[in-house]
Amino acid sequence: MFLLVLCLSSSSILIQTSEAQICLPKKHAALFVFGDSLFDIGNNNYINTTTSYQANYPPYGQTLFKYPSGRFSDGRMIPDIIGEFAKLPLLPPYLHPDPDFIYGVNFASGGSGALLQTAQGYVIDLQTQVRYFKNVKKVLREKLGDEEAEELIKRSVYFLSVGSNDYGDLLNVTNSTVTLFPVDKQQYVDFVIGNLTNAIQEIYEQGGRKFGFLNVGPIGCSPSIRALRNNATCFEEISAVARLHNVELSKMILKLQKQLNGFKYSLHDFYASLSQVLTYPSKYGFKGGSGGCCGSGPYRGVDTCGGNKGIKEYELCDNPNDYVFFDSHHPSDKACQYFAKLIWDGNHTFNKPCNLNQLFQLS
Ligand SMILES: *[C@@H]1O[C@H](CO)[C@@H](O)[C@H](O)[C@H]1NC(C)=O
Ligand SMILES: *[C@@H]1O[C@H](CO)[C@@H](O)[C@H](O)[C@H]1NC(C)=O
Ligand SMILES: *[C@@H]1O[C@H](CO)[C@@H](O)[C@H](O)[C@H]1NC(C)=O
Ligand SMILES: *[C@@H]1O[C@H](CO)[C@@H](O)[C@H](O)[C@H]1NC(C)=O
Ligand SMILES: *[C@@H]1O[C@H](CO)[C@@H](O)[C@H](O)[C@H]1NC(C)=O
Ligand SMILES: *[C@@H]1O[C@H](CO)[C@@H](O)[C@H](O)[C@H]1NC(C)=O
Repeated sequence: MFLLVLCLSSSSILIQTSEAQICLPKKHAALFVFGDSLFDIGNNNYINTTTSYQANYPPYGQTLFKYPSGRFSDGRMIPDIIGEFAKLPLLPPYLHPDPDFIYGVNFASGGSGALLQTAQGYVIDLQTQVRYFKNVKKVLREKLGDEEAEELIKRSVYFLSVGSNDYGDLLNVTNSTVTLFPVDKQQYVDFVIGNLTNAIQEIYEQGGRKFGFLNVGPIGCSPSIRALRNNATCFEEISAVARLHNVELSKMILKLQKQLNGFKYSLHDFYASLSQVLTYPSKYGFKGGSGGCCGSGPYRGVDTCGGNKGIKEYELCDNPNDYVFFDSHHPSDKACQYFAKLIWDGNHTFNKPCNLNQLFQLS
C-alpha cells in the first residue's frame, strides 16, 4: 500500500517484477556489471564448467551471506557494495532463473577475459555478456515501453572489470619457475584492448553512455603467483604487462570520448590502489598483505580453497577481515568494502576524471 501511495507521485512508476509490484523513482539509474571473477556474483553457478571457475561451495560466502553464493570471497564483491551505495537492491546474476532487470543485472563470469580464447568453453566470454545485455534491453522495452527503457539505459552505469585473465594466459609455469611465454606483448595488449573496445562500442550502440572501469591490478603480486614462484616477491614481468594494458586502456577511453557523442566515464586506477594496500597493509587494517586467507602452500596461494579442485586439504584463516585476499586470487569482503568505497567516492588520485558516485549523478 505504502509503495502504491508513493507511485501516485508523477516522479515514480509502478513496475511488476517477479516478486511484487514495486514503485521506482522514474529517474533511477540501474547498474549493469560485466567482466571477470572480481565482479562475478554467481553466473558461473549456472554454466557447465569446473570448480576452478566456481565459488559455490564452502567456505566461500561464510562471513556475510552464510551460504556459498558463487562469489569468490567470504562475503560481497565490489559491485554488490557499489549497488548498496547507489541505493539499489542486491543485483541478481543474469543467469539466475527469472531475474529482475529493472535495477540492472550482473553478467560477469569468473575466468573470462576480453579475448574469446581465454578459458574458452568454461566461462561466459565478454561478447556473450554483451549479447545478454541486448536481451535485457529487449525485456526492459517490453516492461517499460520503448521510451522509458531507452531513458533508463541511457541513465544507467556500465561497470567493467576485464583483462586480468587474458594476461594470466601469458604465464609459463614449470617446476616453481614462472616466466612469460615469448609473445609480442604490445600486440597481445592491443588485441585485449581492441576486443574490449568492441564490447564498449556495442553497449554504446544499445544506448549506454556512462561507463565505470577498473584497470588491471598488479597481477604479479597475487598469492597465487607468489606461491607458484615459491617466493615472497611479486612477479614483476606480468605486472609490467598489466601496466602496459593500463596505459593503452587510458588512451582507448580518451579516444572513445572524442569519437562517441555523450560517452562519459569513471576510471578507477585499481593497479595503484591495490598496490598501495599491498605495500602498507596495516595502514588499511589488514594483518597480512601478501598471503590469502583460504588455500594451501606458501602464502596460502595454492588454489585449493574449498577442497574440491582435486586437492582435499586446505587451510582457512580465523578471520578473513585480516586479509586483503580471501583466496589465492580474490579480495576478501573487507578489502572489497575498502575498494568499493574508494571507487564510489574517492578523489581524483584514484578516479579519473570523476568517481562512480559522480558518474551516477550525471544526466
Ligand atoms: C559439460 O562439459 C563436460 C566436459 O567439458 C562434458 O563432458 C559434459 O557433457 C558437459 N555437460 C553438459 C550438461 O553439457
Ligand atoms: C621439472 O621437474 C621434474 C622432476 O623434478 C624434472 O624431471 C623435469 O625435467 C623438470 N622440468 C623442467 C622443464 O625443468
Ligand atoms: C616454458 O618454460 C620452460 C621452463 O622455463 C621452458 O623450458 C619452455 O621452453 C617454456 N615454454 C615456452 C613455450 O616458452
Ligand atoms: C580480438 O582478439 C582476437 C584474438 O582473440 C584478435 O585476432 C582480434 O584482432 C582482436 N580484435 C580486435 C578488434 O583487436
Ligand atoms: C625469487 O625472486 C627473486 C627476485 O625476483 C629472484 O631473483 C629469484 O630467482 C626468485 N626465486 C625463486 C625460487 O623463484
Ligand atoms: C585523496 O584521497 C586520499 C585518500 O584516499 C588522501 O590521502 C589524499 O590526500 C586525497 N587527495 C586530495 C587532493 O584530496
